[in-house]
Amino acid sequence: MAAKTNILLIGATGYLGGTVLQRLLSHPERASFSISVLVRNTEKAKLLETFGVETIIGSLSDLDKLEKAASSADVVFAIADCDDLNAAKAILAGLKQRHAKTGKQPILIHTSGTGVLVDGAQGDHATDIVYSDLDIPLIESLKPTQIHRPVDIVIAEAGNEGYARTHIILPSMIFGLGNGPLFEKGICNRHSMAIPALLQLGWRRGQSGVCGSGKNLWPLIDVDDTADLYIVLFDAARKDASVAHGRGGYYFAENGHFTQYELAKAVGKVLVELGRAKSAEPTPFTAEELDKYPVTRFLGMNAVCKAERPRALGWKPTKTKQDMLDGIKPEAEVMIKSGLIETPM
Ligand SMILES: NC(=O)c1ccc[n+]([C@@H]2O[C@H](COP(=O)([O-])OP(=O)(O)OC[C@H]3O[C@@H](n4cnc5c(N)ncnc54)[C@H](OP(=O)(O)O)[C@@H]3O)[C@@H](O)[C@H]2O)c1
Repeated sequence: MAAKTNILLIGATGYLGGTVLQRLLSHPERASFSISVLVRNTEKAKLLETFGVETIIGSLSDLDKLEKAASSADVVFAIADCDDLNAAKAILAGLKQRHAKTGKQPILIHTSGTGVLVDGAQGDHATDIVYSDLDIPLIESLKPTQIHRPVDIVIAEAGNEGYARTHIILPSMIFGLGNGPLFEKGICNRHSMAIPALLQLGWRRGQSGVCGSGKNLWPLIDVDDTADLYIVLFDAARKDASVAHGRGGYYFAENGHFTQYELAKAVGKVLVELGRAKSAEPTPFTAEELDKYPVTRFLGMNAVCKAERPRALGWKPTKTKQDMLDGIKPEAEVMIKSGLIETPM
């Protein structure tokens, strides 16, 4: 019997990690996978086991556990906290051991984000700087102080050392409700970050908000399309060791862009339809709001990119800006039903 592919997934109870885990559970080669997940909630761990997944109870600060788990893995999906440098180093240390034991190069698919590209626009202007994931010198020209960059640099360098093949997926602003069996059982978080945050803030202030005049641009991607990219890359990298990795292994997840104003106005329209606001027109966040809720400033930056490397691998995202805008009301309704819309951020 052929040896199984040992997969370690970190972030299984999350929005994106849960969506990727579901893809692995329904993968045509599922029978040849042994899947382990690191989870900190014991109740959710028990539920995950009913799906045939092995669980390791622990958090990203349990560095010894993380290193040990990675040392048994052929493939690691890191989808928990893209800015945890110690956790990233522990995973890499485990992969180094794996290489020493087996002589093979384990695969790491790490999650970063297009937040790494942000400028200081504060909503005042768009940008004509477009980052392609094929333009490695441009990506490497990003300041090491940019958000996510400290971890990305370490992951990319490790891949160049040769003991592991490291790939970095940079999702843009992910939209869409998490759906499928893991979500129905209440194991995974159904909501992304940006749109739910704008809905919560708009709900509280009785009107949608915008950073500056909202002229800046963000890339967008649907959650299922994003998960598809993880699987396209996972399938390609297992079969072909030349799939771009290390310092060349950046993969944006993007299928179009929106201006912050467009999104804020659409949120405003939903708030009016739900009887929570009188006008759909967003008003600028106050200095106090911008300081209190860092997401509001973040949304005021530009991050424009082209996902060319994933498309060259055969990735075909289908959902567009219109799907993102159409999904705001259904998401707000789910958040109202669950009480999340009122939950302080
Ligand atoms: N959503 C987006 O639009 C977006 C865009 C670009 C990049 N990303 C990045 O993608 C990653 C996943 O995002 P997400 O939206 O899926 O977030 P999420 O729903 O909050 O999921 C985060 C997952 O990581 C786990 N986790 C976080 N900190 C942990 C810790 N210290 N120890 C153990 N587990 C920990 C969470 O476990 P618990 O369930 O126990 O909390 C959960 O399973 C993040 O790094 C995020 O920055 C997200």
